Amino acid sequence: MPANTIEHNRTRQNFEGVSSIWLFGYGSLIYKVDFPFLEQRPATIHGWERRFWQGSHDHRGTPEAPGRVVTLIESPGAACKGMAYRVSPTVFEHLDVREKNGYLRFATTMTFEDGGECEGLVYIATQDNEAFLGHAPDAEIARQIAGAAGPSGPNSEYLLRLADSLRALGDACPHTFAIETHLRSDAERDT
Ligand code: SIN
Repeated sequence: MPANTIEHNRTRQNFEGVSSIWLFGYGSLIYKVDFPFLEQRPATIHGWERRFWQGSHDHRGTPEAPGRVVTLIESPGAACKGMAYRVSPTVFEHLDVREKNGYLRFATTMTFEDGGECEGLVYIATQDNEAFLGHAPDAEIARQIAGAAGPSGPNSEYLLRLADSLRALGDACPHTFAIETHLRSDAERDT
């Protein structure tokens, strides 16, 4: 899978006759809402875990010093909370560019807080994409994030804003919070 997924995503779903579709966001799509939406609802997807295993060479890092951003890893029994948006399919023209560094649109089922379910889409960067970095110890991920920045800003801002958003949503994501703790204590130690 090439690092740039724009063309690939354009061929993945047929939006003919579709006026709106639900999109599930679990990373920056929770807090950086730079696209129009018709409706917004907290939601959960099951069988997936959030992981800082995707490299960011274009937004929160550079090709020389990539940052780390989240993707989803299959994990039976797990649940991942995020924000669902009902959007016009035209929104994907913008989002496919924003998520171009390895993310593909997949169909998913999301569950709303009232128990209702809905089919929609989610961007996932799978292990076969060129920017995938994979597992590393939490402390090492925190150090990499602390040292990375790109056109969208410091990688630490991505992590801290995501952690705050997950607290607001009530998502106990031990992976994100452990990396946040490392990042904050390293910063304190270095001051
Ligand atoms: C998402 O937020 O749903 C995808 C990953 C990201 O853009 O951070």
